[in-house]
Parts: sequence; C-alpha cells; structure tokens
Amino acid sequence: MSTTPVISIIVGSARPVRIGRQIADSVATVLRDSTHADVQILDLAEIALPMLDEPLMAGMNQYQNAHTIAWAKMIADSDAVVFVTPQYNAGYPAALKNAIDYIYAEWKNRPSAIISYGGHGGLASAAQLRQVLKFIGNDLIDTDVSFTIKQTDYTPEWSLGDADAVVARDGDAVRALGEALIAKLDAQVAKAA
Ligand SMILES: Cc1cc2nc3c(=O)[nH]c(=O)nc-3n(C[C@H](O)[C@H](O)[C@H](O)COP(=O)(O)O)c2cc1C
Repeated sequence: MSTTPVISIIVGSARPVRIGRQIADSVATVLRDSTHADVQILDLAEIALPMLDEPLMAGMNQYQNAHTIAWAKMIADSDAVVFVTPQYNAGYPAALKNAIDYIYAEWKNRPSAIISYGGHGGLASAAQLRQVLKFIGNDLIDTDVSFTIKQTDYTPEWSLGDADAVVARDGDAVRALGEALIAKLDAQVAKAA
C-alpha cells in the first residue's frame, strides 16, 4: 500500500442526467476530511466501457482490450473502493455490473464499501451488489450506507439542489464507512508484515 492510501469511488450511474456523480463528489469530500486518504472518482460515464467484449472470461487473467487493461489498472491502483450506486428496479445498474464483470483478480481482497441511494433508499440495490462482491472476493466492510433521496432534494432539471446537504444527513455513517475501510487496510498491512 502507498503511504497515503488511495480510495476510489466508483460512480455506478452512467445516465446523461443523474445525481450519482454529485453524490460521489460530496462523499469524496467527507472521506478526504475524515480519512486523509487520496480519494479519487472513477466515473463509469466517463470511463465508458463498452458492453463486455473480452473474448476470454476475466478469471483467466488474459485481458486483450486496451479499455480492459486500463480499467484493471485503475482498480489495481486503488487501495480501497467505494461503490456509489443508485437503486434501479430493486437492483443496481447494468453499467456497474458490466464494469465488475470485465475484471476479476483486481477485485480479490480489495477493501470495499457500498453506498446506495434511491427514493426509498437503496437497500435492495446494495443487497444485490453485496452478493456479487462477496462472490468475487472483495473484502467488504460489514455496514452499507443508504441515502434516501426526497422529491424536494431534486431541482426541476433532476439534479440535486444541494448534494452536500443530502450526504450530510448521513454524514456520521459515511465517516464510519471511511474509518472501517482504513481499519481494513491497516489489518491487511499488519497481516502482510
Ligand atoms: C431505471 C430506473 C429505475 C428506478 N427504480 C427505482 C427503485 O427501484 N427504487 C427507488 O427508490 N428509486 C428508483 N428509481 C429512482 C432513482 O432512485 C432516481 O432516479 C435516482 O436519481 C437514480 O440515480 P441516478 O440519477 O444517479 O441515476 C429508478 C430510476 C431509474 C432511472
């Protein structure tokens, strides 16, 4: 692990009109303050992976496309990962599942956390994501964070009027998530020593 840990926040929503990036940016600010980690955003809308087009399954560790190799490096260079995901029809977005399925070894033992959100919170989305991340071997912290987005949080253009205020409603939970991730990183370093 680098001296200053790198925490990458993956933005799971890739819609052209979305609130996911605003939420991720606000979460990043909280985590930077509370963990002093190097917190970066990995925005799936910007990374723009095509639908999975690797000829071999990721577990064979023979990535062939430049976009796959680049994506694998982004995750390999992350000491920990925070998934920020909306809830779509009681699940998480296809763009996020696609990004997960592209690679395999890079997820293994990676300290990870889930932040979900939706009109009724994002617990169903988080539960689905947790099942997949456990299967591929992420080192998930025990407690997810879920934001309930109220109608009044949206502007008429369907962005958040004040994303920081939305995240601040669950600020203690976000800080606890950051602490749990740092504890996982410390535990991994101690085990390796
Ligand atoms: C395809 C789709 C399905 C949705 N399904 C749910 C849902 O099951 N539960 C919920 O609370 N909100 C649901 N919503 C509302 C979203 O929580 C809300 O649109 C949110 O802004 C989505 O995040 P995003 O803007 O970052 O994409 C859904 C939205 C979309 C686009």
